[in-house]
Amino acid sequence: MKKRVVLLAVLMLCLLTISACAGEKEVLKVGTEATFPPFESQDEDGNYIGFDMDVIAFIAEDNGWEYEIVNIAFDTLIDKLEKGDLDIVIAAMTIDDERVQRVDFSNPYYDASQIIIVREEEAREFGLDDIAAMDLKIAVQMGTTGAEEAQGILGDDKIHNLYEFKRANEVFTELLSGRVDLAIIDQPVAQKYIAEMGGMKIHGAPFTEEKFGIAVQKGNKDMVDKINASLEKLVSSGEYQALYEKWFDE
Ligand code: ARG
Repeated sequence: MKKRVVLLAVLMLCLLTISACAGEKEVLKVGTEATFPPFESQDEDGNYIGFDMDVIAFIAEDNGWEYEIVNIAFDTLIDKLEKGDLDIVIAAMTIDDERVQRVDFSNPYYDASQIIIVREEEAREFGLDDIAAMDLKIAVQMGTTGAEEAQGILGDDKIHNLYEFKRANEVFTELLSGRVDLAIIDQPVAQKYIAEMGGMKIHGAPFTEEKFGIAVQKGNKDMVDKINASLEKLVSSGEYQALYEKWFDE
């Protein structure tokens, strides 16, 4: 009799643990900064949309991963990934030397470039080399490659002409307000904001060569391999091309 009670208790305990574990499928935390259309932004209902959002959805589906989007300032993404507060970062993030020291990147999935935007009525002629001498003020998003380019362009002498913003949309409102003379940002994003907000235009040609990658914690080879395998499938299935046309061909 006693034996049966013990057995029953053990059985119940087992069932409890199993159901607890089954219900607790890991939800990956995917970090981004969602004021960066057409890569990542939010629709009126707060849903995350954009090229990157479709790419990560494909990768997650392909691997049977559940995930949630964590929308935070761009300049905090790498820190949070290093600390383990995030599992993946997809944020139109350029693979650069400094970041490669701290996190691991997937294979590149998009070729990008920085470009200058000015107000529509801007009539002055200037190239990259004239910006510092003309005392022009530049708006950029904090922690981006655009910010780094701007620092190089201004040099130490004119660094006070650098205006950095946490969110990309603030860069454009600042330019429209007239407090700065130009903004530097990734080309497709510039085009999207110009189309949506008006009052601005592209100035000159794209002037950097960058590649976007998906970042994971340093040493997480398993996850990089899985992401790369899914990226290959994305391309070979024709889905990459479809997404490209969906988000970039206007
Ligand atoms: N490509 C640039 C960089 O890697 C800008 C990325 C900004 N991304 C964003 N989601 N706000 O620095």
